[in-house]
Amino acid sequence: MIKLENISFSYNKKQEFIKDLSLEFKSGEITTILGPNGSGKSTLLHMISTYLKPKSGKIYLGDKDLGKLKQKEIAKYISCVYQENESPDDITVRDLVAFGRTIYPNVKKEDKEENEKMIDFALKATGIDEIQNKKVVNLSGGQKQRAFIAMSLAQNTDVLLLDEPTTYLDIYHQIEILEVVKTLNEKYNITIIMVLHDLNQAINYSHNIVIMKNGKLIKQGKSEQVMDEGTIKDVYNVTGYIHKQDEEVYFIPKQIC
Ligand SMILES: Nc1ncnc2c1ncn2[C@@H]1O[C@H](COP(=O)(O)OP(=O)(O)OP(=O)(O)O)[C@@H](O)[C@H]1O
Ligand SMILES: [Mg+2]
Repeated sequence: MIKLENISFSYNKKQEFIKDLSLEFKSGEITTILGPNGSGKSTLLHMISTYLKPKSGKIYLGDKDLGKLKQKEIAKYISCVYQENESPDDITVRDLVAFGRTIYPNVKKEDKEENEKMIDFALKATGIDEIQNKKVVNLSGGQKQRAFIAMSLAQNTDVLLLDEPTTYLDIYHQIEILEVVKTLNEKYNITIIMVLHDLNQAINYSHNIVIMKNGKLIKQGKSEQVMDEGTIKDVYNVTGYIHKQDEEVYFIPKQIC
């Protein structure tokens, strides 16, 4: 479990953007963070990945206080695909994925086999083993996104953070990525915390939803508990209908307020 305890954070000295935020993410689940642009979703992921340090409060992974661990140690437990990803120009997909193993630089000979095995696994699990020798610069947006997910997967962590993994992708490739995410969770028991903008994809692919606005936690829970017309209107300034059918919930947007 990842637990944030009374977290505060500010980008500038004048104003605290996140104030006294407490939140839990359950192990083995997919949690999606929703919220308008600028609501603090990436900031939250960056604090969990320890790329950003909270001004006060603690973040625990199980009983480990992340603030007390070295970066290399944290990288054994948590990997992250950021909203914007860059790679060296001339690198192949396999070499990019191999970067995920660089947290284990002093590997013994027998461990080198383990490295190659993990890279093969990551390429297969994300369905890009056939393009592993292609240059990353020549990939389509969806292939590139998978390559970065594969790199994080090669890191072999229990927790994977994904910041808008479906951005720029057409609907087919969005679903393709989300199916990869689902498989990683179901088959390999990886805890996923991701940011999405599509409410219905969040409902479909998450066990839990976290809704943020202006650096504050608005709601957390199962989609049927947190997704209601009033909350969506308050958070996004969009009216619409929640459609419930059997166990399923959909949001159909109507207009902006
Ligand atoms: N490096 C930074 N320096 C100063 N302010 C920042 C920085 N990064 C983000 N912010 C501000 O912090 C707030 C939250 O940004 P954040 O990137 O966490 O939002 P987000 O919910 O991920 O938005 P989006 O959906 O657009 O990705 C915004 O007001 C943003 O302008
Ligand atoms: Mg963001």
